Amino acid sequence: MHAPSKLSGPVTLLRPPLLRYGAGAVDGCAEFLRAGGYRKVLVVKSPHIGGAEAAIAACGEAVESLIIDESVPPEPDVAACEAVVRAAGSPAPDVVIGLGGGSVLDVAKLAAAVAGADYGVRDLLGAGPPPPRRAALVCIPTTSGTGSEVSPNAILYDEEAKAKRAAIGPALVPDAAFVDPCLTLSLPPEITAATGIDALSHCIEAYTNLFAHPVIDLYALEGVRLIAGALERAVRDGSDLEARAALSLGSLYGGYCLGPVNTAAVHALSYPLGSRFRLPHGLSNSLLLPHVLRFNISAAPERHAAVARAMGAEAGSDIMATAEEGVRLVEQLSARCGLPKGLSACGVTAEDIPSLAAAALKVTRLLKNNPRPVSQADAEQIYHQAL
Ligand SMILES: [Fe+2]
Repeated sequence: MHAPSKLSGPVTLLRPPLLRYGAGAVDGCAEFLRAGGYRKVLVVKSPHIGGAEAAIAACGEAVESLIIDESVPPEPDVAACEAVVRAAGSPAPDVVIGLGGGSVLDVAKLAAAVAGADYGVRDLLGAGPPPPRRAALVCIPTTSGTGSEVSPNAILYDEEAKAKRAAIGPALVPDAAFVDPCLTLSLPPEITAATGIDALSHCIEAYTNLFAHPVIDLYALEGVRLIAGALERAVRDGSDLEARAALSLGSLYGGYCLGPVNTAAVHALSYPLGSRFRLPHGLSNSLLLPHVLRFNISAAPERHAAVARAMGAEAGSDIMATAEEGVRLVEQLSARCGLPKGLSACGVTAEDIPSLAAAALKVTRLLKNNPRPVSQADAEQIYHQAL
């Protein structure tokens, strides 16, 4: 059975020393640069971001040199990240700003981690905590999904290992995060939907996690409530600032879950879909989430029932019925947000499943968190149900 989370258990929280949240928050970035006396700034940025032009111009006025790099592709690999580091030239930047979605933030985090160092990006993946940074790091999310702006994690596709790999440690926690829902107003509905379900899965996987902790439970459940209440609204009307703000906050809370508790089987089974089929991370999570939850319910029924209530479920005839209603609401939310229903719509076939399951079982750093052990046969069954 699921171990109850104990208030007396030790937990470590790592947070950016400066967090500014809310409409117009990004305008605080220039002052951060000025106060820190920084000189050379590298801005790793997604192209086509609306609403940040004035803030970037103000940052340029606060420093001697500002380089903008928009080269990060979707689902970036090590080579793409190293290209960003090289293009920044010498001397290395003394501050790196990530302005974009999760991939862009993770590339910025790794670029800051290796700026001026004698090791490369690949040296940090799958290794112990990265050494302390020489460059400062600022993260400004433009999607509401990853939570990377406050987490100690960075994920990158390693083309040599043919898998997504993680670097995790205090050096990847930004010095400042500016979480501004206005920067998400122009996100298209399909990206709003997929990234929102990613954030939802961070919260759910943390709350139902074997290593769940009361310090984090608070954020996890409130994140579920915020995202469940706002995602469909933001998908239908991207200009709804209150819905966007709820998603920014829910995503931020999901990010708080990632360091101390982290995710579990949804993410473990999701990564091979990103590596092999290049499925966007949020989309692959949305396709797997209900099936992994159904698999997990029996191992932690009370926790899943609490998630269900945070999703807006009425109490059922018993704990199991309530928990199952929560899964139905998760499925309904994805459907109402227009997300695809099955992996087969994304090019995955039954023949792919054994190797996908084998790859997922290698993600032991996350599977160890899952409330129910996952075998090769279990993983295959979950992929089949998600097909
Ligand atoms: Fe995620």
